[in-house]
Amino acid sequence: MNKVNVVLGSFYGDEGKGKIIDYLSQKADVSVRCTGGNNAGHSIEIDGKKFAFHLIPSGILNKGTIAVIGNGVVIDPKVLIEEIEALKSNRYSAKNLRISDKAHVIFPYHVEMDKLQEELRENKIGTTARGIGPVYCDKYERCGIRMGDLVNKKFEKQLRENIKTKNKVFEMYGHKTFDADEIIKEYNIYADKLKKYVVDTISLLHNALEENKKILCEGAQATLLDIDFGSYPYVTSSNPTIGGICTGTGIGAKYIGEVYGVLKAYSSRVGEGPYLTEQKNEIGDKIRELGHEYGTTTKRPRRCGWLDLVALKYAVMINGITGLAINHVDTIGKLDEIKLCVAYKKEGKISMQFTTDEDDLAKCEPVYETFEGNFGNISNIRKREELPDKAKKYLGRIEEIVGVPIKFIGTGAGRDAMIVC
Ligand code: IMO
Ligand code: MG
Repeated sequence: MNKVNVVLGSFYGDEGKGKIIDYLSQKADVSVRCTGGNNAGHSIEIDGKKFAFHLIPSGILNKGTIAVIGNGVVIDPKVLIEEIEALKSNRYSAKNLRISDKAHVIFPYHVEMDKLQEELRENKIGTTARGIGPVYCDKYERCGIRMGDLVNKKFEKQLRENIKTKNKVFEMYGHKTFDADEIIKEYNIYADKLKKYVVDTISLLHNALEENKKILCEGAQATLLDIDFGSYPYVTSSNPTIGGICTGTGIGAKYIGEVYGVLKAYSSRVGEGPYLTEQKNEIGDKIRELGHEYGTTTKRPRRCGWLDLVALKYAVMINGITGLAINHVDTIGKLDEIKLCVAYKKEGKISMQFTTDEDDLAKCEPVYETFEGNFGNISNIRKREELPDKAKKYLGRIEEIVGVPIKFIGTGAGRDAMIVC
């Protein structure tokens, strides 16, 4: 078995990565978040209790697993502390949490800038307003403050310099400005609370590899939200695809084994941007209600539609996906009739060519195959062969077209409602 397995989102996020991660991390010694920040929302249901993680790898719920927040993640310390407290109040411990000293810190001016930019933008992105774009900008602009600087209280000088320049911009827009002393005071408290978790996670991960430990990389966001490969500009500000897993952890490509692409038996998107198989009608509304498609992070209703295999094939290609994890098969099975987009038709030609170009995509029309729904209650089924034929047919066709085997089938919300193929 390979030392490092990866779980990634195949579409626009919210594919139910948490469920697969939860299963795989029970066998992992180390579980790592690699990119993004608290724009992510990974929910897991254990014994009827729902846990929503935004920053902490959900592997933390397993007693023996070390949960690492990698260098590629951006951290809002206030949110992280709240998450640690929530764990403790549910009788879980955060003692296995490790945070990279290289992970960048989100400050209140990042969050305000995110909101302000979104407000001023004509073409809205629909960001989660968590300061993700602005903090990654500072990272690349090289004025960012990292967790190591924060907990060792070596951030004052940079912070004062940042506030000076950021305030000029806020003033220009007639927006309230920030007081450096106040932020320093607040963040010093966070620093004291988080210091014990901050380490050199690169050494930690490589020591684990040397000891033949199993590592699980927990992807956040998804392929079509990738800053390079997604539908730019309606994307997030990091690389949630396979490359980001390597740069967000310091794990070289040679260690990577299975790459699981997570998807739903239908599709959804939050925020703006093109979405060819979206159903802006009763079907979309029905899927939203049946699948409880409301944001874990922002509570926004998600846009819903049919599964798009042209987009899935693109995700398989970009990430080198070796196995599919398909969630909400129970949900789609509640419909009478299911449609599956198997190709695009553009100017009379049918192809599997995906495009993230908005104008190009506007010329495409989805080509659908229709499947019978009404799968019945499948939540207690644990073997693929025992699924009703109607469900088998739908899943089989996905594998056939995409050319990648399905390894996990989600059949319900509970932790155990899953078929491992
Ligand atoms: P998980 O890990 C769904 C979307 C936002 C917006 C765009 C940019 O739960 O799958 P950002 O705040 O990142 O600058 O917003 O990306 N987005 C997500 N959508 N799930 C996520 O994460 C997302 N993270 C960001 O809605 O359209
Ligand atoms: Mg989400």
